[in-house]
Amino acid sequence: MATNYRLEADVAVLEIDNPPVNALSLLVREGLVQGIRRAAADGAVKGIVIGARGSFPAGADINEIANGLAFAPPILLDVQAEMESTAKPIVAAICGTALGGGFELALTCHARVASPDARMGLPEVKLGLIPGAGGTQRFTRLAGPEAALEAITSGMNLPAARALDLGLIDAIAADPLAEAAALARSLANSGGPLRLASERTDRIMGVDPGLIAAWRQKLAKRYRGQLAPLRACDAIEAACTRERAEAFKLERQYYLECRESPQRRALMHVFHAEREARKIPGVGADLAPQPIRRAAVIGSGTMGGGIAMCFADAGIPVTLLDVSREALAHGLGAIRERYAASVARGRLAKEKVEWALSLIGTTTEYEALANVDIAIEAVFEDPALKREIFTKLDRHAPAHAILATNTSSLDIDTIAAATSRPQQVVGTHFFSPAHVMRLLENVRGAQTSPQTLATVMALARTLGKIPVLAGNCDGFIGNRMLQYYGAEAERLLEEGATPEQIDRVIEAFGFAMGPLAMRDLAGNDVGWAIRRNRRLAPDERWSPILQRMAEQGRLGQKSGRGFYRYEGRERRADPEALALIEAVSRELGIERRQIADEEILARLLHPLVNEGAKILEEGIALRAGDIDIVYINGYGFPAYKGGPMFWAQQEGLGKIIETMEKLAPSHGRRWLPAQRLRQAAEKGGWTS
Ligand code: COA
Repeated sequence: MATNYRLEADVAVLEIDNPPVNALSLLVREGLVQGIRRAAADGAVKGIVIGARGSFPAGADINEIANGLAFAPPILLDVQAEMESTAKPIVAAICGTALGGGFELALTCHARVASPDARMGLPEVKLGLIPGAGGTQRFTRLAGPEAALEAITSGMNLPAARALDLGLIDAIAADPLAEAAALARSLANSGGPLRLASERTDRIMGVDPGLIAAWRQKLAKRYRGQLAPLRACDAIEAACTRERAEAFKLERQYYLECRESPQRRALMHVFHAEREARKIPGVGADLAPQPIRRAAVIGSGTMGGGIAMCFADAGIPVTLLDVSREALAHGLGAIRERYAASVARGRLAKEKVEWALSLIGTTTEYEALANVDIAIEAVFEDPALKREIFTKLDRHAPAHAILATNTSSLDIDTIAAATSRPQQVVGTHFFSPAHVMRLLENVRGAQTSPQTLATVMALARTLGKIPVLAGNCDGFIGNRMLQYYGAEAERLLEEGATPEQIDRVIEAFGFAMGPLAMRDLAGNDVGWAIRRNRRLAPDERWSPILQRMAEQGRLGQKSGRGFYRYEGRERRADPEALALIEAVSRELGIERRQIADEEILARLLHPLVNEGAKILEEGIALRAGDIDIVYINGYGFPAYKGGPMFWAQQEGLGKIIETMEKLAPSHGRRWLPAQRLRQAAEKGGWTS
């Protein structure tokens, strides 16, 4: 039985036991209904406690939402109806995380007690859903619309103390089960009427309609293109403006609408893909990662400093090594500035900064690295310099230490060959700004050991990052795909598009930033320098546009002009940039034409998918989902479209092949569909 029933004196305890996260699967729901009926029928029982073995339920069973079992009776709404119709008090005892349907279950109880470290919330929007079992209604009735809008439209988790402040729970106790039983008993003994959250009205009366309107505007901007946050807002509005039964019905209707949406399918794919990406064939759960107690980062520039911050934020002492005291002082200064910016934005408490800074040491001597468990090199992309650094690291770091490189494209094996421990050499490719971006692309060299891989995959999670494993090739997963996306944007410019048009199309698709605005942000000199190191197929060519931009000092945001002209961070169309582009078209003998938005989208996204297919074919990525995770977390692909590979599958792989074949004769070999793409089209998906 997934819900155990036991008596503790005159209180019935229903204990949910459904590992790993006590999701509200069918068996659990059945057990709850039976338990409540049994307790109601037992004259010796005064009250009921709903708790769980380990953590309170983390929600509906996600797999059941996808396969429809979540709709097999008794559904959660039936359980709640049973709870609300019982005459005996029901109290939730919350430990761990009460999320989604789990929190909805708790909100249906007559009272809630949580442990001090418990967290709770309604994260459904992150899966493209809204709560569908009265969560938006009961939350709003207990805590008011403002708190509901903030928490539910973002899907944030609330710590117990905040939940208590908001009136979502009734008490915090070290032993929530005992306290919940005592509360159930005292509610029963008081003989007063039992209060239900669904019947509370004091927080939903006289709500200013302007509040909802303002939120709706804010959400339209913050979650551009996304359905669920707006529907959550609609449901909260209904709680304040409609009659109770009608408002509950509307919430359910919005829930079902979201459930049927492609965005829900995409976001659930992302949820699973993120978890799958942690798993590496041949690296079993029995292979314990090496403990990382101390780290070193070589190079105190932007990347090195950001990586050091990641360790410090996770409470791991880290030593920054650079060639001179001046370089280190400069690097530390930049770290301080970044922390100060986080404090100013309210993202970080001031005390936390002092604590983190106290964990960052500096040195100019490799001898100081004698006790580190990992050293991550983050100097600029100079292969000779990297080899020299690795030789020194090999000499001075302890024998067990992992030596990692943050290179974004260089050959891991060449770097590993400079050491006597290639099995402990690995790529750990962070994304800029490293202390913010969540992706960690770990790169496996030919000799990297399973133990080393297990360690860097686990390290990613310790640092709060999302890991994906990539094979060793030029550009790994992310940058290798990006080069075709970026290159195609310039081809479109040559043919007649403008930077504004290209960026508008991509941003309307859902990317945070279009490719040309992105180039300007990264620096066109940097982009050009990276491109020079790239291999190119013999019959391919780079557009000269990027090089011209760099040579003419149009470096992007940092020089105030690039593909755009900048006033502060505000970008404006720049006739001079367009003149440069038009000159290139003329020189190449290309007659500029009007390009439709659909063509722009296809021309930019299809090469991404095709290169992704080649990456799969070559085993550089283990799964199509891994590529999606890379693109969503490292390159701004909208999560609600599921990543490039998932998007392609939804779009129709056959359709993509068709457009590519049309373009191949005029646009070159890169438009020939990869074998793996054709195979997937035949099989109807990447994995089937
Ligand atoms: N239903 C079914 N399975 C779930 C689940 C759910 N609601 N939530 C998590 N799982 C599974 C995961 O898929 C994973 O499976 P795996 O081991 O086969 O990969 C396992 O439980 C552990 O989850 P994971 O996320 O790796 O563990 P964690 O300790 O890092 O985080 C949670 C635990 C509960 C915080 C996190 O899983 C989470 O946020 N879950 C979703 C909560 C949610 O959105 N609920 C609303 C559902 S509508």
